[in-house]
Amino acid sequence: MLETELTRILKIRYPIFQAPMAGGSTTPELIAAVSNVGGLGNLGAGYLTPEKIRSSIQEIRQLTDRPFGVNLFVPEQPMESKENIDQMTDYLNKYRVKLGIAQNPLIQKFSESFDEQLQVLLEERIPVFSFTFGIPSQDVIQAMKQRGTVVIGTATTVEESKQLEAAGVDSIVAQGSEAGGHRGTFLKGRSDSQIGTIALVPQIVDNVSVPVIASGGIMDGRSLVASLALGAAAVQMGTAFLACPESGAHEVYKQKILLENEDATEITQAYSGKAARGIRTEFMNDMNHYSGIIPAYPIQNAMTRDIRQAAAKVNNPEFMSLWAGQGLRLAKDHSATAIVKQTIEEAKVLIKRISIFGKINN
Ligand SMILES: Cc1cc2nc3c(=O)[nH]c(=O)nc-3n(C[C@H](O)[C@H](O)[C@H](O)COP(=O)(O)O)c2cc1C
Repeated sequence: MLETELTRILKIRYPIFQAPMAGGSTTPELIAAVSNVGGLGNLGAGYLTPEKIRSSIQEIRQLTDRPFGVNLFVPEQPMESKENIDQMTDYLNKYRVKLGIAQNPLIQKFSESFDEQLQVLLEERIPVFSFTFGIPSQDVIQAMKQRGTVVIGTATTVEESKQLEAAGVDSIVAQGSEAGGHRGTFLKGRSDSQIGTIALVPQIVDNVSVPVIASGGIMDGRSLVASLALGAAAVQMGTAFLACPESGAHEVYKQKILLENEDATEITQAYSGKAARGIRTEFMNDMNHYSGIIPAYPIQNAMTRDIRQAAAKVNNPEFMSLWAGQGLRLAKDHSATAIVKQTIEEAKVLIKRISIFGKINN
């Protein structure tokens, strides 16, 4: 009943993706649990070293023989003035004093090497490769496809989805503005591309011929059915899985996910230099008053890393990044298997109810 074009292409039972979530939430246990029950587990590998990506893929393969995906960030090479960087370093020092860590830390590198990360994915011949923040070169897309890997890009506007289709992706994640974590926006629009899922999905569906995956605010069977009705061939759920026992999210982050409500999140550039939705913190509120220019991603991301890590060590959520979507109130601490099963059961009941309603009114 819930078979779609994508479940057939990917050879999965249910049209449910557990979102790739860089930063440690998407453990091999979480990914394998989702894939084993019939969805598609995805590793958020954007911040991982090539060695860690390889060992994670090997662990996933020990836990499941079902398809899974790995997600990377398409790299950006921002130009940032020394003045902006120095001003931010000075400003961030006050948080370092508060947390008792060294001021003016030396930053070794801003991000991992995309080419080296890709090399591991190519060697490991992964079932699904997804990406966000842009479009990789034709060489990359074709090399993946030649190895039988299904390639999935992320769009936040129709124009982005058209460019992804032209680049040859097999499917597109339509990421609405409700979504937790970083915005995948890579073409600058008039609205900062903050289009909600219910508006975005059908407009992308109408403009591309590859299957579309709805993402942003999808937490249960109701939003799964709604997404299918909008023309999506699957959903990608992130926040719904963050508080699972299998998720690697920090315990205080999990507690915030379970306690906070739909009005607790905001889109901020404060942590990373790139727009991302997370639960409001003291750090976000304070950075709203920063009068200088926030260095672009991934520079700011690297510059705040020591602060986020020190805060996590002392269980202080106010200086950690707590990425989460607007569906927050619906998050549960059930197992990943239970979340997928409950979502499917709810969707089946709803579809039946809708078809009975349709018959009565005919
Ligand atoms: C903690 C967190 C980390 C994320 N990291 C990534 C990532 O590494 N790559 C990616 O493509 N999307 C990432 N996302 C976005 C998700 O793919 C997805 O669009 C989002 O979770 C959907 O919205 P929802 O959280 O309301 O379900 C992340 C989301 C969260 C909440």
